[in-house]
Amino acid sequence: MKKERLKELAAEKAVEEVESGMIVGLGTGSTIYYALLKLGQMVRLGLEIIGIPTSEQTSQIAGEQGIQLSTVTENPVIDLTIDGADEVDPNLNLIKGLGGALVREKIIAHASNRLIIVADDSKVVDYLGTKIPLPVEVVQFGWESTQMALNRICQRPVLRQVNDQTFLSDNGNFILDCYFDQISDPGQTEVEINRIPGVVENGLFVGRVDRVIVGTADGIQTQDPQV
Ligand code: 5RP
Repeated sequence: MKKERLKELAAEKAVEEVESGMIVGLGTGSTIYYALLKLGQMVRLGLEIIGIPTSEQTSQIAGEQGIQLSTVTENPVIDLTIDGADEVDPNLNLIKGLGGALVREKIIAHASNRLIIVADDSKVVDYLGTKIPLPVEVVQFGWESTQMALNRICQRPVLRQVNDQTFLSDNGNFILDCYFDQISDPGQTEVEINRIPGVVENGLFVGRVDRVIVGTADGIQTQDPQV
C-alpha cells in the first residue's frame, strides 16, 4: 500500500474519536492533512467542534474545510488533540517538528486531556534520533551561542534552511536540527536541551501520548502507553 494511503487510514481512524461538542487540537503535517479533510466532511454532515490549530498552515487548511477555529487563549483546556510525528519509539515517545510547528504543537498537546498521534509505519523506530535530527526552536538573538551549547549535547546542530533561506517558525524563531547517533534517554535529553538559554523548546515529546495509531500494509495498529 502506498505511504499516503497508510497516512490516510491512520488519520481517519483517529478522527473516529472526535465527538460533537469537543474542542479539538489540530496538529500539523501531511498526515494530519487527511484528518482535516475527514473532519471537514463530518462538519458538513453536522459535526459541531471547535478546532485549535497548531500552525498557520493548519489554520488555513482547516478554515478551507469549514472547521470552526479558535485559539488556546480562548480555550485553554482542549478535549482531544490529533497530531503527527516524525519518529515514534517503543515507549511511545516522539520526535516532532520537522514541519517546524513543534512549539505550538507542544503547548497544545500539554493543554489537551488526550493526545492521539497518527503516522505511517516508516515513523516507527527502536531509538529516537536514528533516522532524523531533533528539531530545536531557538530565539534569533545569540543563536550562534545557543548552537555551540547544543553542540555539547548532540553531534551536529544545523541551522534549518529552506530554499536557501533561513527557516522561520510561525513564532519568528530559528530552528536548529540536531543530529544524534541515537537518543538513549529522551526524558533527560528533553530537559537538558531546554535548560540552554535561547532554546524555546525542543521536539522531544516524552510521556505525553495517550494513543498512537500507525498505518501499516497489514492494516491499522493501535498502541496505548503501558500503565
Ligand atoms: C510538524 C510536526 C509533524 O507532526 C511531523 O513533522 C509529521 O509530519 P508528516 O505527517 O508530514 O510526516 O511535528 O512540526
